[in-house]
Amino acid sequence: MLGARITAIGTYVPERRLTNFDLEQMVDTNNEWIIQRTGIHERRITRPDEYTSDLCVSAVKDLMQRYNKTVEDVDMIIVATSTPDFPFPSVSSIIQDRLKISQTGAIDLSAACAGFVYALHTAHCYIASGLHKKILVIGADTISKITDYTDRNTCILFGDGAGAVLVERDEKSKSFIGFHLGSDGRGAQHVYRSGLSKKVNDIELIDTQYLVQNGREVFRWVVRNVPDSIRQISEKTQTSLDQVDWFIPHSANLRLIEPICEKLEYPIKKTLYSLVNFGNTSAATIPLALDLGIRGGKVKNGDRVLMYGFGSGLVHAGQLLQINFDQQVTVPTPL
Ligand code: COA
Repeated sequence: MLGARITAIGTYVPERRLTNFDLEQMVDTNNEWIIQRTGIHERRITRPDEYTSDLCVSAVKDLMQRYNKTVEDVDMIIVATSTPDFPFPSVSSIIQDRLKISQTGAIDLSAACAGFVYALHTAHCYIASGLHKKILVIGADTISKITDYTDRNTCILFGDGAGAVLVERDEKSKSFIGFHLGSDGRGAQHVYRSGLSKKVNDIELIDTQYLVQNGREVFRWVVRNVPDSIRQISEKTQTSLDQVDWFIPHSANLRLIEPICEKLEYPIKKTLYSLVNFGNTSAATIPLALDLGIRGGKVKNGDRVLMYGFGSGLVHAGQLLQINFDQQVTVPTPL
């Protein structure tokens, strides 16, 4: 198995802010309830003419500028998203053209809020096989475009954003320590957007263009299952959780992160999340949280980071990483 290293990161969030106070004007809710139940203060929302591909291109440009990287020689692009510009063509093929990458494979990956971690794992496998050398992995979503802003149960949670990393072949310094993947399709009806089929697990779905979720069921499932899966990574890699410098769970809701940490007896202060200012950005929450940690000087080369994504499916994926990025050449402007 050949070695792979994550060499650079870049992120982007749209300019428009949607605060809890804005939401108070739209649905029967209030700032205190939202902060108390979710920890979210505001989110960023795309313009009507701004799509997931636009966020991806901006995140990659941020990466190239900060790390003085070129992407023309990338040989695979993997975009994890649930909100592609179109059902087809793929976002990855659109950005291949916009970033002028001439000779590459391009695929979109569907694993909802676990998408970025699944895409990272896929990139690792492609490089470890010896068949690829340099892969662009992006987690990006514009969930605002499929959010019902008359439904107070869901519209308070979601925002838009993108995070990109480069994964390159490297025999000396390797980033990937261990992983765990899982799926539990029995819970498919708990978070969905109806599609060609209007039924799953023999259950009639609400047929709207919007995201539908049973927040309580998702909450319960996550707290019941995710901590055990995280322990499996710890066991498989013989890394105790106190050797993990930073834990990056999917930023769905701060009230969901707390019981996970409690069950794992992991200190919440060593947890990174992006939900306070960006909400749940689905496939983008984990790279955004990692980048906030880097930009804020918390995450440093040599640190061990354990990321864990979970979401619609229900699917989940975790990755234990050793951080060893290239040196940044420019200081990023704050997000
Ligand atoms: N503002 C004010 N009140 C609200 C509200 C809002 N935005 N949304 C719901 N409420 C009300 C409910 O109607 C309910 O009122 P009732 O008791 O009179 O019926 C009450 O608040 C409690 O609702 P409940 O659904 O039990 O709240 P909760 O504490 O479970 O929080 C979520 C709701 C959605 C924030 C929470 O369940 C959650 O985050 N779940 C996980 C979702 C998730 O992770 N999704 C992403 C998967 S990737």
